[in-house]
Amino acid sequence: MQNDIQEVLYSEQQIQDKVKEMGELISRDFEGRNPLVICVLKGAFIFMADLVKQITVPLEIDFMAVSSYGASTKSSGVVKIIKDLDVPVEGRHILIVEDIIDSGLTLSYLIDVLERRNALSVTVAALFDKPARRTVDLDADYKGFVIPDAFVVGYGLDYGEKYRNLPFVGILKSEVYSH
Ligand code: PRP
Ligand code: MN
Ligand code: MG
Repeated sequence: MQNDIQEVLYSEQQIQDKVKEMGELISRDFEGRNPLVICVLKGAFIFMADLVKQITVPLEIDFMAVSSYGASTKSSGVVKIIKDLDVPVEGRHILIVEDIIDSGLTLSYLIDVLERRNALSVTVAALFDKPARRTVDLDADYKGFVIPDAFVVGYGLDYGEKYRNLPFVGILKSEVYSH
């Protein structure tokens, strides 16, 4: 599996340091707000687990799984809810936890859904940001790393459902996906 990686972009330690920093900022901003922290499955599962351990204020967690209808229709912004939240968001301060913002379509859809359900506030924490690929105007409130337009995997991020369990984030060798 490690042989498929061309270059390590961020080591396990670099990621942990960044996640700790983000957790400190979030703890400061969410004092007394009892946020509902939402993990966007599947990609955000590792980031979510590490991030909430670095947040020192009381919070609740929930999970949501979404999927686009495939590459060709993704640009139309059609996103489908595969697994919805267990609890209502009305009147809650929401913190969405995402691994990466690419086109921005997944998050813009989710933000829209949560606002229509009358969340008090919707805030986004994203570990990675790939602004080169953005098609909608969207930015994270808490951002880890801004990355180049390369195929990255690891720390939750997959290629064909693989590589999510790598503890670091790296660029996939092009021969892995070119045939
Ligand atoms: C990936 C990633 C983000 C989304 C970003 O999820 O985890 O959720 O794409 O892309 P966007 O900004 O263009 O919407 P994916 O749909 O691959 O599902 P997964 O999390 O289960 O891997
Ligand atoms: Mn995802
Ligand atoms: Mg994926």
